[in-house]
Amino acid sequence: MRTIYCAATSLDGFIADENHSLSWLFATPGHADDPGGRYGDAATLDFERMIENVGAIVCGASTYAWLERELTKEGQPFVWPYGQPSWVVTHRDITPVAGVELFAGDVADLHPRLVEAAGGKDVWIIGGGDLAGQFADHGLLDLVWVHLCPVVLGRGKPLLPRRLRLHREHVERDGQFTALLFRVVGPEP
Ligand SMILES: NC(=O)c1ccc[n+]([C@@H]2O[C@H](COP(=O)([O-])OP(=O)(O)OC[C@H]3O[C@@H](n4cnc5c(N)ncnc54)[C@H](OP(=O)(O)O)[C@@H]3O)[C@@H](O)[C@H]2O)c1
Repeated sequence: MRTIYCAATSLDGFIADENHSLSWLFATPGHADDPGGRYGDAATLDFERMIENVGAIVCGASTYAWLERELTKEGQPFVWPYGQPSWVVTHRDITPVAGVELFAGDVADLHPRLVEAAGGKDVWIIGGGDLAGQFADHGLLDLVWVHLCPVVLGRGKPLLPRRLRLHREHVERDGQFTALLFRVVGPEP
């Protein structure tokens, strides 16, 4: 069981722009758009393979709102896109969709529930960055896996707003992305 923060980031360290848009991300070709392998050699660090070994999921309120906004089909209710037990951390008075529980407070109190629900598989922190940081503050973040996107945004929502030392474990080219897997070492003095 590992607790993994997996997200796509701009070169200057943002996972969404200041308006919570990911248009810059979806405009970037990955290995699926590069069948001849001109730009890459992926995909050990493949999202579809990663999610197969995920047993529980957690995200923040803005990320949940983004998913609800983007995945709600006209005239139909929002359906949570993941089959794994999932938690949204929020203080907001929302009614979550089926498959999602709400949590507010110290993530150290949530983590044992995530681990138990994961049943030996990994816990995936979708984001945002501060939420991943909250787990790291308690030494509960094991891996940081980023897909680095060749774009700079100037401003936006930060990837991981903490002082942390990481150790690079693996690098791959994935279309125009650079996939990077890091182990979290600990706080950087
Ligand atoms: N590029 C990628 O791969 C990627 C991955 C993930 C997310 N995203 C995007 O990045 C953006 C992230 O937004 P964000 O930085 O605002 O982060 P977020 O984690 O999605 O949301 C932050 C909010 O969650 C709530 N929250 C956080 N920790 C909490 C806690 N311990 N207890 C209770 N509530 C807590 C707070 O809102 P309240 O107090 O209002 O509830 C906080 O303002 C979103 O637009 C998302 O779509 C991108």
